Amino acid sequence: MRLISTLLLLLLISLAYSSATPTRRSRKSTRIHKPCKTLVFYFHDIIYNGHNSKNATAAIVGAPAWGNHTILANKNHFGNLVVFDDPITLDNNLHSHPIGRAQGFYIYDRKEIFTAWLGFSFVFNSTQHKGTINFAGADPLMNKTRDISVIGGTGDFFMTRGVATLSTDAFEGEVYFRLRAEINLYECW
Ligand SMILES: *[C@@H]1O[C@H](CO)[C@@H](O)[C@H](O)[C@H]1NC(C)=O
Ligand SMILES: *[C@@H]1O[C@H](CO)[C@@H](O)[C@H](O)[C@H]1NC(C)=O
Ligand SMILES: *[C@@H]1O[C@H](CO)[C@@H](O)[C@H](O)[C@H]1NC(C)=O
Ligand SMILES: *[C@@H]1O[C@H](CO)[C@@H](O)[C@H](O)[C@H]1NC(C)=O
Repeated sequence: MRLISTLLLLLLISLAYSSATPTRRSRKSTRIHKPCKTLVFYFHDIIYNGHNSKNATAAIVGAPAWGNHTILANKNHFGNLVVFDDPITLDNNLHSHPIGRAQGFYIYDRKEIFTAWLGFSFVFNSTQHKGTINFAGADPLMNKTRDISVIGGTGDFFMTRGVATLSTDAFEGEVYFRLRAEINLYECW
């Protein structure tokens, strides 16, 4: 009698294990995320610093009370809002023929660490690409790579969605930086 009930108990436990937890876990881990399109671009941000109005592609338009609109504020630039219209190139050369513009803004949103939030579009009007890709997301700048969301698109990128992996390809003082964007699209029409 004791043996039977022990066996029953064991059977119940093993049933519970095999039916509930593992299947749910394995279903999640076997989901395959494969992009339908991968694109790599570079974009170049030259921030106005009081002397480079001719070349600047970005301007500080918001600053905290302890800062100004010429130089990014201290405390990790917290409170600065920068608007940009940056050339997009296929390689890492600022002087390569631009195939579009990266247009939008970033805000520095933490006093303790160097981090930003990005909202922008890639606007293409070239023989290679026509249309827009729209991006949004947190950009923890100290990370070698940062993932932001591709939240939509138009034209060649109609209704697209995906993830863009950003990395800082160059950083020269507070004036110039270059980002590499590897865009993986998971919805292509
Ligand atoms: C602007 O760009 C030109 C061409 O790259 C360069 O010769 C010039 O020094 C730059 N001017 C400033 C103020 O950065
Ligand atoms: C802006 O702030 C920086 C340092 O925070 C300072 O050196 C500079 O003189 C200020 N510029 C203006 C135009 O107030
Ligand atoms: C795209 O480029 C073409 C040819 O240069 C031009 O006619 C058109 O106005 C441009 N469109 C936009 C939205 O800039
Ligand atoms: C940033 O890097 C840290 C440590 O490498 C990692 O734990 C974190 O998930 C990364 N964050 C993002 C948003 O990539």
